[in-house]
Amino acid sequence: MSKFLFLFGNTPQLSLLELNSVYPQLKAQLLSAEGELANRLAVAEMTDEEFKKADFINKLGGLVKIFQLEKTLNKSSDLTSLKNAVVDCLISKSHQPYFSIYQKGKGQKAINHAQIKDLLKERGYRSRYFKGSFEGSAFALHQEASQEIFLYHDQEAIYLSYLVAVQDIDDWTKRDRSKPYFDRKKGMLPPKVARMLVNIAGSLYLSEQKNQSAAKIKLIDPFCGTGTILIEALNLGHQVYGADLDEQAVWGSRQNLDWFSNEYNLPRQNFAEQIFVADVGQLNAEKVAGKKFDLLVTEPFLGRQTPKEEELANIFKGLSKLYLGAFNNFSKILNPGAKVAIIFPKVVAEHRVFSLDHLIDKLNAKGYNLVVSPLLYARQGARVQREVYFFNFK
Ligand SMILES: C[S@@+](CC[C@H](N)C(=O)[O-])C[C@H]1O[C@@H](n2cnc3c(N)ncnc32)[C@H](O)[C@@H]1O
Repeated sequence: MSKFLFLFGNTPQLSLLELNSVYPQLKAQLLSAEGELANRLAVAEMTDEEFKKADFINKLGGLVKIFQLEKTLNKSSDLTSLKNAVVDCLISKSHQPYFSIYQKGKGQKAINHAQIKDLLKERGYRSRYFKGSFEGSAFALHQEASQEIFLYHDQEAIYLSYLVAVQDIDDWTKRDRSKPYFDRKKGMLPPKVARMLVNIAGSLYLSEQKNQSAAKIKLIDPFCGTGTILIEALNLGHQVYGADLDEQAVWGSRQNLDWFSNEYNLPRQNFAEQIFVADVGQLNAEKVAGKKFDLLVTEPFLGRQTPKEEELANIFKGLSKLYLGAFNNFSKILNPGAKVAIIFPKVVAEHRVFSLDHLIDKLNAKGYNLVVSPLLYARQGARVQREVYFFNFK
């Protein structure tokens, strides 16, 4: 068994929930509760075989990198033992190390690559160094054999680990930026967040419906916009359906899904039928030819992106109505046991916090039960924050 460290991106709580929902047997635990990596590092134990088979980095939206733990050193270890441990790790991987090294956490030791190079030389090894970036994509991992060493210091220990997987940032960027249709004015969900929502809702559903499979799952996004959620759901093998009030968005979503199916060589579904124009207020069984859905994952209209303070009370009144009406209609097209992942808007104004959390009791009475506490997902600098809610539909 080995320990692995999972580095999350900028929605760490959602990322941890995703990791533990998709791989519940792992029981990953947070390693960093505070400091600069607060909530961003989790640890879990498994065999190397299990690690390879799981393909975490391609399956999950919330991961940046994965490191394998080589050694846990005592917090009071001196610089010499630390340097020796790093060198031992490097030469166990390569006889000509090509390496990078970075440290995070409390009480870091003054260790640098020049000292490591010198020690390697003393021990008879030639080495090369490259400047890796902790957050960035490790180009060298893809391009040639290399080792990235990560030292994490917490209150109790120093964790010496090396990089074993890195997100394919080019692929995520391609899905975000290269699709034929986009509409920045409406605000699009980042593909990684869309992936996390679909993964969490889908895993919750599959954990209860033992004879179901990803390919049998029917998912609908009734506010599909440019189709970001539908693309990620298609990528996970689900049957995807979408609706939007706006004809242009429906046309654009169809284009995006066609493009995506081509680019990723996926079986083409009948998007001309499966993505259609509908006001959520008119969503009913007839609109979806009597189909019932297992997952509903959506980012509804969240109000204006930069609302004025004095408009907020009215805006939230309107949104309450929109959301309640939407949930009423969702009941008509959901299977019992369906999971709903939905974004609620939240604005922290000068004198008051505006949110839709008062709807929870009403939704409860309509058969929607919260599965986990809402998780905040805030874009940097955004006036309207997003809260993610997961419901079970009875
Ligand atoms: C925040 S956007 C969704 C963006 C989408 N997640 C994406 O990444 O492209 C909300 C969408 O809801 C649609 N919409 C607004 N009111 C609606 C209604 N009453 N019924 C159906 N769609 C509506 C808008 O046209 C818009 O495309």
